[in-house]
Amino acid sequence: MSSIATNEKIPNNVSLASDRRLQRALEEWQPNFRKWWVEMGPDGFQEHDVWLRTAISADSDGWAHFDYVKMPDYRWGIFLADPVQDRTIGFGDDMGKPAWQEVPGEHRNALRRLIVTQGDTEPASVEQQRQLGLTCPSLYDLRNLFQVNVEEGRHLWAMVYLLHSHFGRDGREEAEALLERRSGNADNPRILGAFNAPMLDWLSFFMFTYFTDRDGKYQLLALAESAFDPLSRTTRFMLTEEAHHMFVGETGVQRVVERTAQHMRDQKDVEPRSVGLIDLPMVQRYINYWFSISLDLFGGEISSNAAQYFASGLKGRAHEERYDDHVALDPSFEMLVPKDGALVREAVPMRTAMNEVLRTSYVEDCQRGVDKWNKTIAELGVPFELTLPSSRFNRQVGLYAGLHFAPDGRALGAAEWEAKRGEFLPTDEDRAFLGSIMSRAVTEPGKMAHWIAAPKKGIKGKPVEFEYVRHD
Ligand SMILES: [Fe+2]
Ligand SMILES: [Fe+2]
Repeated sequence: MSSIATNEKIPNNVSLASDRRLQRALEEWQPNFRKWWVEMGPDGFQEHDVWLRTAISADSDGWAHFDYVKMPDYRWGIFLADPVQDRTIGFGDDMGKPAWQEVPGEHRNALRRLIVTQGDTEPASVEQQRQLGLTCPSLYDLRNLFQVNVEEGRHLWAMVYLLHSHFGRDGREEAEALLERRSGNADNPRILGAFNAPMLDWLSFFMFTYFTDRDGKYQLLALAESAFDPLSRTTRFMLTEEAHHMFVGETGVQRVVERTAQHMRDQKDVEPRSVGLIDLPMVQRYINYWFSISLDLFGGEISSNAAQYFASGLKGRAHEERYDDHVALDPSFEMLVPKDGALVREAVPMRTAMNEVLRTSYVEDCQRGVDKWNKTIAELGVPFELTLPSSRFNRQVGLYAGLHFAPDGRALGAAEWEAKRGEFLPTDEDRAFLGSIMSRAVTEPGKMAHWIAAPKKGIKGKPVEFEYVRHD
């Protein structure tokens, strides 16, 4: 177990004090980060005491501490998972050689790009979600939102540590730029499209933490395999925190469908929407939207970049150890490729299909939550089934971009797509409806907004009625 310094200005388990230059550089970045947090973090709750988990080590048990803290005083730290003794590269052309402790010159640009792209999503999501607290369905949910937000802030720290410690001057410049880009800003937007739309309602927040944070999980799993050992150790610890974010999404959607299905069981003749509940076809439209834009985050189905990353050991597959062949030079991967108006089964070289391999693992993982949501609906005796749309549906990136497919994967003409869009994807009416039922914050301890069921239990042994967020 590496030693932990929690009393320093920047809590860390990377012996920051032994590298004065690095420590000074990060301590100079720290006030800029805090300024960004106060400006762009949760709107209206910076003076509240929030019952939050803070990472205090990377130990598998006892890595977190729970207590009330005002968010600007949150102790954002730098924690890497413990090193694996004599770790070797687990895939690609250099398989079996020692993992890198320093950045090889020839991979410097590609690695920096991977780290900056990952790092940019972390503050972006905080910016997207900054208004959500004002319409929270309960103190429990408000606390979970802020937990996700502060940890995305810590993930930014994780990436900035790598930039500062391994990329010299351009790394420091990238760290500054990560605080300057703004979600949705026309002149200086966040890097990835999905991170530039504001998040105005809690159904979207739950979908985001279920589907988009899960994209994050798969990117982190792929980077955890990296030959660049500091990146591997950083992302391995981030995954520990990420699990809670996806829990928030999975249980959030589950509680929405539970509330609606209860109503459908008890009052069959009363439309859920007419009594301020989120109807299940609308939940389906939100799944369709968030799943499809999250699929885009994996990149094109056929990608020479992905092949290059794999060949050079920068980015592997999720759980690389579960594959037999870690070199992946000979085999091919079959996919449906659009050709002359039809879908043709084609075999492409495995390495160029690595984005699709990762996306396929992701889709399987997504299905598990949908199954649980359906179980909730079925247990309440309601005949309705939620589904994941086809991976071809509503794609803006890759082979299927610019083409039209129904959620079941059928090809559609442009006119038919336009006519059905409102069945497939959230509409202005849906958004206005959500705005109307989520117009104020529910902040009495233990109370829930009308449109969502209470959680089964509270956080870390506290009851659901616990005052998770308070103001004196
Ligand atoms: Fe994150
Ligand atoms: Fe996350």
